[in-house]
Amino acid sequence: MTLQNRGYPIRRRSLFGLGAGLLLAGIAQHAHGYTDAVSAKLTAKQRSRQLLPAPAGMTPLLSYFDTAGPAVIRMRQGQRFHARLENGLLGGNLQEPTTIHWHGLRIPNAMDGVPFLTQAPVEPGDAFEYEFTPPSPGTFFFHPHCDTVNQLGQGLAGVLIVAGDEKCPFDADLVCAYRDWRINDDGSFAAMMTDKGAATAGTFGKLQTVNDLVQPVFKVPAGGDIRVRFLNLDMARLIDLGVENASGGPGAWMIAIDGNALADPIELDTWRMGPAMRLDLAFRAPSRPGERVRLMNYYAAEPVLLATFEATGDVYQRRDFQPDFLMVPDLPEPKLDGVEAWPLRLGAASAPSPLPADLKLPDGTRLPSVSSLCLSPHVFWALNGNTWPTVQQGHLPPPLATLTRDQTYVLELINETPHPHPIHLHGHTFKVFASNKRKVTPHFADTTLVRPNERLKIGFVADNPGDWMLHCHIIEHQETGMMGYVRVT
Ligand code: C2O
Ligand code: CU
Repeated sequence: MTLQNRGYPIRRRSLFGLGAGLLLAGIAQHAHGYTDAVSAKLTAKQRSRQLLPAPAGMTPLLSYFDTAGPAVIRMRQGQRFHARLENGLLGGNLQEPTTIHWHGLRIPNAMDGVPFLTQAPVEPGDAFEYEFTPPSPGTFFFHPHCDTVNQLGQGLAGVLIVAGDEKCPFDADLVCAYRDWRINDDGSFAAMMTDKGAATAGTFGKLQTVNDLVQPVFKVPAGGDIRVRFLNLDMARLIDLGVENASGGPGAWMIAIDGNALADPIELDTWRMGPAMRLDLAFRAPSRPGERVRLMNYYAAEPVLLATFEATGDVYQRRDFQPDFLMVPDLPEPKLDGVEAWPLRLGAASAPSPLPADLKLPDGTRLPSVSSLCLSPHVFWALNGNTWPTVQQGHLPPPLATLTRDQTYVLELINETPHPHPIHLHGHTFKVFASNKRKVTPHFADTTLVRPNERLKIGFVADNPGDWMLHCHIIEHQETGMMGYVRVT
């Protein structure tokens, strides 16, 4: 362990999370703390769980690990990561190819997990080995990139934490992964996608959970410094995340956005998060055991309680609370001056693009059409007028743009629709820096929410060669046309 003690008791730390993730089934991590490699076996398959209370039945969730709750992998910056994906989607209508995309990680293109663009889809019963060294610490996640609406919709996702950004230690480090489930009263799944939802703001679920639990209560050390890694892993819901300190004490501070530490932490009022966006928070737990801090979603007519943190145990005696816990990551800094913006219009599809008869891989193999392409049969959305797929007879569509390696690019994301769109670029971390509608505090992100009629500017250094997806992370929008890719050469 390279965490320093600084004279504070760290004995209890392991009870509250830091070490706990390593004990999950499927992760090999040698006995004492961190070694130079971590490996995980991720078997995508159905494992039913009781999501709704009885008498509702179990929900046939898809997951990667045998343990309950979302898969959480913790590793340290500099460690090599090796993950073996086994496709166990074998039964009946589950029989589908899959892949894993490591969302937010700036890793080599061949490890990016996009079927047909970066790898062949992993067929049922087959396996694929991912191997990379995450370049930056932070809170990331991973999910399939093939029939995502059904696979992610039924639970297939996990959290990847890369430690190494703390300059002062926390007393607890918690993952809060948000989901809203499309389930029926008997616990079975409802249809993940509806035409009405796909063509508007997305199809919402009816059971909101954090770590697959309804309004969980997390015990946190009284008076301790708490880090909460909040992830919106839903397919459609927006969240206005806020914190309510019932003891009347101070609120929380935003310390990292999409895993990227902020140079100057921001006191949290509320923060709007679309699907795939993450926010790391720091707060001081109440000093009286039993007192509570609540995590709330204010993006609703009535605020929704998401989770509660309850102070417990001996009280920590701490210096005054300082929110600057994290070191700023070493990210490629775009030189924005004088760079002309490239417009990317988020719009409705004018006409559905024809589906291909079949697809020809670079090696000449032909694949039979739609199901193996991981496509949806409907098209509602477009990027610069192009829908995905615009596959003409056996070819992937051309890239939206070809970028020169190591150059800075500015994209103006122009939302011409009445719905917000969380736009995600693979393989890069961009700086969100200007909007025509609101004041933006410049920050690094990999997914950013573009409001209706907003023109939002992002800049980045195209330093990672390959073909990188650029799409809306409302999965129904992604799968009905709002998806494309850029090529960095
Ligand atoms: Cu998390 Cu292509 O997405
Ligand atoms: Cu969208």
